[in-house]
Amino acid sequence: MAVLEVLKYPNPALRKETSEVTEWDGKLKKLISDMWETMYLSKGVGLAAPQVGIPMKLVVIDYEGDRYVVINPEIIEEDGAERSNEGCLSFPGIYEDVTRPTRVRVLYTCEKGERRDVIVEGFLARVFSHEIDHLRGRLMIDYLSPLKRGFLKKKMEKAAREGE
Ligand code: CO
Repeated sequence: MAVLEVLKYPNPALRKETSEVTEWDGKLKKLISDMWETMYLSKGVGLAAPQVGIPMKLVVIDYEGDRYVVINPEIIEEDGAERSNEGCLSFPGIYEDVTRPTRVRVLYTCEKGERRDVIVEGFLARVFSHEIDHLRGRLMIDYLSPLKRGFLKKKMEKAAREGE
């Protein structure tokens, strides 16, 4: 296993188009285990492949021991809306209120190549929504007011310049 570099906003890789996973090979297996290791070391609950510079539809999630490897996901139902605080490994130290669905139904393929159909609620629905957003280049900052977004963008650009 290896710890991968987590890319921070405004790295352009976070906005890239992602492709479907098509090969269930050793390379995918290694990427998944590296992503787990990277996520645990960073103390995150979720990590999406674009955050480690891999433009693929792959996410790992561990919420209180419920582990999900989510490949080629599609959100097919969303209900409810709740505004709550969230963070992102690509925005270290930044926590903002974001409105997300309270219940999400997701179709995806697991690491064994089997198709799954799950319904997740509450905080886990937030995590799935946040991580699946990463696969289409959508970031938590996009949900904020233009004023707040501008402020955070400047702050993150400054941190990137200073090599933080
Ligand atoms: Co994130």
